[in-house]
Amino acid sequence: MTPNQSRQYGVEIIGSGNGLPSRRLTNADLVKMMDTSEEWIIQRTGIEERRLCDWDSGEKTSVLAAQALQTAIDDAGITPADIDLIVVATMTPDMPTPTVSCLVASKIGCDGVPAFDFNAACSGFVFSISTVHELLKGGMFKTVALIGADCLTQYIDYSTAGRTASILFGDAASAIILRRTDDTSKGLIAHAMHTDGAGSSILLIPGSRSDHPDPENCEDREVKRVYMNGPMVFKFAVKKFPEVIQETLDLAGLEADDVDHYICHQANARILEAARKRFGLHEDKLRININKYGNTVAASCPLVFNELCKDGSIKPGQRVMFIAFGAGLTWGASLWQL
Ligand code: COA
Repeated sequence: MTPNQSRQYGVEIIGSGNGLPSRRLTNADLVKMMDTSEEWIIQRTGIEERRLCDWDSGEKTSVLAAQALQTAIDDAGITPADIDLIVVATMTPDMPTPTVSCLVASKIGCDGVPAFDFNAACSGFVFSISTVHELLKGGMFKTVALIGADCLTQYIDYSTAGRTASILFGDAASAIILRRTDDTSKGLIAHAMHTDGAGSSILLIPGSRSDHPDPENCEDREVKRVYMNGPMVFKFAVKKFPEVIQETLDLAGLEADDVDHYICHQANARILEAARKRFGLHEDKLRININKYGNTVAASCPLVFNELCKDGSIKPGQRVMFIAFGAGLTWGASLWQL
């Protein structure tokens, strides 16, 4: 399609849907696998259970992503033929190539449409929703499927040695459908995106010993497993989360209370509560669902969005801000007029 440079469009979100693994991993299950306790996990993180892929039955990122997209397509009342771009935010593709988005296009019956993956770790959905907005606004595409999909548990060490990171993460996919509209009042109001590669050593998956922050002492079992300096990541998040919210509000010329829903990356309930208190937000404005899913990386924000849509909390005409932070380091926010 040739972009129509002479005019600009609005963008609306017309559907959403999830793809969740059937297996549940509760805190009680983790107690059987490592030296931890249900109380410790709940108090430090707010997580009660998370979903895990059943790899033997073929569950993986592309499978969950396709399920999420099919549900979102049905929710939007469109058909796969209406979609003209598929973007998958992920850091855990099934394999280095092909991309998850190509596999999803084929599974959904969208072969032939452009499709690409977008990796900004836990910030992937937030970075990509702002980017996709511009592709729609400029007229290059009409209907775009955006999916956050990650199955990070394949990189987790479920022994006592890996207990700090292993309790946090779960697998999931969640999709939205975005559509160009002539109503220019709808769409992105303001956004912020940031990275700090110099801070990357506090949260990473080392590909080899030399990637590890302490290569001399890195054990073989630590290669290709999540490495996380929990307290340092916590400090980073507690600082950057409110900062990026304020930055985005300032860009939009709005006050915190002018936004109806803060749709936040679910990394730790304590980090979310700190942000909520910092802006004096009512509980209804900042949904926490980490208790059910844990940290699902790029799927985290759309899982919250979908939940708010399905229970009727999100209404047409409201303003919502998507906010995330993660490995890279990356952090960002995307403020929308629905
Ligand atoms: N069960 C029981 N004890 C545990 C444990 C577990 N699962 N994990 C760690 N501990 C222990 C540690 O070994 C340590 O023991 P010690 O004092 O005897 O050395 C103690 O608990 C405190 O460890 P610490 O890492 O300082 O805990 P914390 O209060 O920082 O909580 C996190 C750990 C991971 C919950 C917290 O740091 C966090 O949420 N960080 C941010 C993580 C995040 O957001 N990651 C994703 C970014 S996208």
